[in-house]
Amino acid sequence: MHRQATNDSSAATPFGWIDEQSAQRRAAGLVRVLRPRAAESDRLDLAGNDYLGLSRHPEVTEGAAAAARHWGGGATGSRLVTGSTELHAELERELAEFCGFEAALVLSSGYAANLAAVTALAPHGSLIVSDAGNHASLIDGCRLARGATSVVAHADPEAVGKALDTHTGPAVAVTDSVFSVDGDAAPLAQLAAVCREYRAGLIMDDAHGLGVLGAGGRGAAQATGLAGDPDVVATLTLSKSLGSQGGAVLGPAKVIEHLVNTARTFIFDTGLAPAAAGAALAALRLLSREPERAAQARAVAAELHGRLTAAGLQAVRPDAAVVSVRAPSPDEAVQWAADCRAAGLVVGCFRPPSVPDGISRLRLTARATLTGDQIERAVRTIERTAPAGARTA
Ligand SMILES: Cc1ncc(COP(=O)(O)O)c(C=O)c1O
Repeated sequence: MHRQATNDSSAATPFGWIDEQSAQRRAAGLVRVLRPRAAESDRLDLAGNDYLGLSRHPEVTEGAAAAARHWGGGATGSRLVTGSTELHAELERELAEFCGFEAALVLSSGYAANLAAVTALAPHGSLIVSDAGNHASLIDGCRLARGATSVVAHADPEAVGKALDTHTGPAVAVTDSVFSVDGDAAPLAQLAAVCREYRAGLIMDDAHGLGVLGAGGRGAAQATGLAGDPDVVATLTLSKSLGSQGGAVLGPAKVIEHLVNTARTFIFDTGLAPAAAGAALAALRLLSREPERAAQARAVAAELHGRLTAAGLQAVRPDAAVVSVRAPSPDEAVQWAADCRAAGLVVGCFRPPSVPDGISRLRLTARATLTGDQIERAVRTIERTAPAGARTA
């Protein structure tokens, strides 16, 4: 049947509806724009996720360059065809060993790693119990999985138990180890105990834990004594503390073998570029040699939090390297971030609809290499540009 031509402008052209959505976004003040940055800048960056300051470390950039020279500009194929090099295997061995897991699988991003882990471990007939504050990539994993999803209250092991109690058959609980919006840590030990009670697996996304939590940055699973347990799986990104690009799933060897055979974002995706694998491996080796970087990142976060709170601002106590500061409204959050930028400080700005609780915030990331002067400059700028309603009474 042919569709009727109408006068409705949204139906006049194939993508007419985009204009309508775009106008709505503009009216709501929610337009996002790309701001390509220069390689060198006088601005102080408290928005990137380079927690350990490794992305431009000479050993890391040389790791990327040497890998590209040796293996080529790309992996040449999917991992199961030609895209698995000896470098990928080496990175997987060292990641697993560093974080204390039996095996690891490297994928092209943390996003792909989360889709792989959740879809492969939640087959038809299974239940996924997902924290309401989880990262979009875990949420999308739940959407793509064949199992049913129950979204439960944030950081609430009891709610996880109640959801698991309703189900017979395979089940997994999925959670960020450190939540990306507020930087708070999941109650992993309690979650693991509840999962065990119901014989469910636990998948933790350690994107913000690797390099920051645990002994020498070995991650949240190591910090909570869960690394290597047969019912625990961790996902990682190589793009934050390791200053590179890519992702990984860590877990029991049988889980990794299952992913190799079933995870579509692993099977149907070109292998991670050798340069990214080389950079990540160099960063991992550097972190093993300089474990103090992890504690430094945590100390910088604690200092930022302490000084912002002392200035009367509402900052959430950081469990890792993310420091979140409450803003009174979305518009004021945007203006605050813009004023910081104009004053030479780059900070993140989170507002609805990216935040499920509707609270707008500035999001700061601590970096192990920030100097006392830089911390001072950042705090003074945030304090000076703060809207009146950002201060506690
Ligand atoms: C909690 C969390 N999980 C997963 C990802 C995705 O990782 P990647 O950027 O490597 O795709 C991110 C990155 O923004 C994240 O913050």
